[in-house]
Amino acid sequence: MAILVTGGAGYIGSHTCVELLREGRDIIVVDNLSNSHGEALDRVAEIANRAFPVYIQDLMDREALRKVFREHRIEAVIHFAGLKAVGESVQLPLKYYHQNLMSTTTLCETMEEFGVYRLLFSSSATVYGMPDQMPIREEAAIGAINPYGRTKQMIEQMLQDLASSDPKWRIAILRYFNPVGAHESGRIGEDPSGMPNNLLPYIAQVAVGKLKEVAVYGNDYDTADGTGVRDYIHVVDLAQGHLKTLDKLDQADGLHIYNLGTGRGYSVLEMIKAFEQASGRTIPYRIAERRPGDIGACFADPAKANLELGWSAVRGIEEMCADAWRWQVANPRGYAGSVAYAEPI
Ligand code: UD1
Repeated sequence: MAILVTGGAGYIGSHTCVELLREGRDIIVVDNLSNSHGEALDRVAEIANRAFPVYIQDLMDREALRKVFREHRIEAVIHFAGLKAVGESVQLPLKYYHQNLMSTTTLCETMEEFGVYRLLFSSSATVYGMPDQMPIREEAAIGAINPYGRTKQMIEQMLQDLASSDPKWRIAILRYFNPVGAHESGRIGEDPSGMPNNLLPYIAQVAVGKLKEVAVYGNDYDTADGTGVRDYIHVVDLAQGHLKTLDKLDQADGLHIYNLGTGRGYSVLEMIKAFEQASGRTIPYRIAERRPGDIGACFADPAKANLELGWSAVRGIEEMCADAWRWQVANPRGYAGSVAYAEPI
């Protein structure tokens, strides 16, 4: 029996594939490579020293997806695939609603058709919008404030309806906080296309000399140093959370929601300082305007995942920065400098 990983070539997907393979699980990856590189999958196989089937296709291609389910005995699906750029989602909302919702409904319909009822869904702390409590517990009110976040929220609601409609479903919704870092090998990591939107890849590109300085979006928030505070979590810790969640679904039916975060927040200035230490470089920055839609602080209460999954994040900020830096230095152009993806492995 195998685990189907959608979006397995992406940042979180690729790190999760490594952990699954290392645990001896069989995997199958479906990815349309719309915002990722097949090279990432070659490197996953290299790190884990194991080959696995890869299908380069879109989840909305129902016939192609059926073929995957026909060719393999799938026990569960981890669904990472989706569009994720907040700014782009504001400009192109229909693209986001179409792609994220249609691909997920097609996936769930196909799972039902083939009698596969275990699903882990990549959600995001972004569904909390402007949170009414800090740290944030899973019971907090949700209310995403941009189209990208609303697609995550709508999918969560759809999955809740699905789980209520048929007790055969076992579904976990994982709300990620801010994933950063890279695999310790330096072979896989985050490879944003174009200008990075998120803080850590931006800092890394300033450190390596690709970008001039970090614009710190606001220093007048109600936080210790006035800059935004987030719950950064090492991507390998996050990946391991998926393995623990698969184990949980062996025992528990119904739908479960977990925050995957560390429970500890760091400010923008603390992240810059930590990255300076990890890289040995000076990172120039300037204070800029607040970014529209940003909140001052956002960090998880991960107690439910700690207790029910027996999982907690163990990698600290030094390791997050050191691993992100190793990846950045070894791959200054991301995956682009490497040879094109050739054959499914
Ligand atoms: C962002 C998205 C969120 C998504 C998450 C993970 C927005 C409004 N939110 O969250 O929906 O789930 O990424 O991909 O885009 N910062 C700077 N300078 C920069 C970049 C960021 O000061 O150049 C600050 C931000 O103001 C924030 C912190 O760094 O305080 C983290 O920002 P970012 O990495 O973009 O993550 P989020 O805003 O938490």
